[in-house]
Amino acid sequence: MRALTYDRYTDAAGLRFTDQPVPEPGDGRVRVRVIAAGLNPFDWHMHRGEPWIMRMQEGFRFDGVRTAGADVAGIVDAVGTAVTALAVGDRVLGSMGGGALAEFAVAKAGAFARLPDGVSWEDAAATPMAGLTALQGLRDGGGLRDGGSVLVWGASGGVGHLAVQLARVLGALRVDAVCSPRTGDLVRGLGADRVFDYTKGEPGSGVGQGDYDIVLDTVATAPIARLRRLLRRGGRVVMVGGLSRGRVLGPLSSLVTRTVAGNVRRVDARGLMARVDASDLELLAGWLAAGAIAPVVQEVLPFDRAVEALEIVERGHVAGKVVVRVTGDG
Ligand SMILES: NC(=O)c1ccc[n+]([C@@H]2O[C@H](COP(=O)([O-])OP(=O)(O)OC[C@H]3O[C@@H](n4cnc5c(N)ncnc54)[C@H](OP(=O)(O)O)[C@@H]3O)[C@@H](O)[C@H]2O)c1
Repeated sequence: MRALTYDRYTDAAGLRFTDQPVPEPGDGRVRVRVIAAGLNPFDWHMHRGEPWIMRMQEGFRFDGVRTAGADVAGIVDAVGTAVTALAVGDRVLGSMGGGALAEFAVAKAGAFARLPDGVSWEDAAATPMAGLTALQGLRDGGGLRDGGSVLVWGASGGVGHLAVQLARVLGALRVDAVCSPRTGDLVRGLGADRVFDYTKGEPGSGVGQGDYDIVLDTVATAPIARLRRLLRRGGRVVMVGGLSRGRVLGPLSSLVTRTVAGNVRRVDARGLMARVDASDLELLAGWLAAGAIAPVVQEVLPFDRAVEALEIVERGHVAGKVVVRVTGDG
């Protein structure tokens, strides 16, 4: 099978299309024929091995090749032993640690959920990681309840644009957003009540004070002291990402600094790492099918142009998501 692979940490230009054996699903795992792969900043972090702290988990040396990409939509093609939740022929969406940019991908069954008919492969591939992060950030990290008020900071990216929509699904009464002027209309169109331009003045100037139950922050650009002024009593900042390209810690450096600053200034500021959870994927799939959420897919590129697609995502100004169409059929 054709796969976009790497045998050492590299930038996207160092990735290579290679011919790999079709992987066999072992115990509790399923094989999916990949139709579309949705891209995330996670992908370039993985193939670059940056920030370096990731290598503690991912390893400093390679045993063989690794395949790029994490989010997939496709059709279950084979199941290993002890898989009961999925069957051959099921349409699925899912998020894996790697291996999405290939004709076939294998992961544990719990990394996937069934995809209802009527949801496009592109929308399905665009949703898993960003959707899980937005959902868990608002619901679990933020404790969003009916009638709550939310500010999504970095609202036009993969996580942010789904967070604006999911905040409504979860019952938020007010959803405001911070993004660039280029994407203001898009974010307004997704249902944001007020949209603030991060290029004007200091981040957050003009944003209401004492208003929000949750600030969902995907970029970590505003100082904690400023975010504090935006929160209602008992409100929280949920930090899911950051722009820092520091080689050692990357966005983790802002997470640590802001957590410390939060403690000093008595702001409830917490980091959240999304977890792959089949029941949350199922929720997202259901909302996609019902039209309650709709990812914005900025571009769909063919498999041959997957490297270019990864480079677009790495530049960090995607409006919504970039998807790679791996196979034409399905
Ligand atoms: N914690 C987790 O489990 C988890 C999961 C997924 C992602 N993440 C992280 O969350 C972050 C966002 O992910 P994503 O998929 O949404 O990334 P993305 O699709 O690349 O979106 C990033 C967004 O940041 C905006 N942006 C760039 N500079 C900005 C600035 N100075 N102020 C405000 N916004 C700015 C861009 O909007 P403009 O083009 O309008 O500037 C862009 O839309 C990344 O750091 C990612 O690694 C974490």
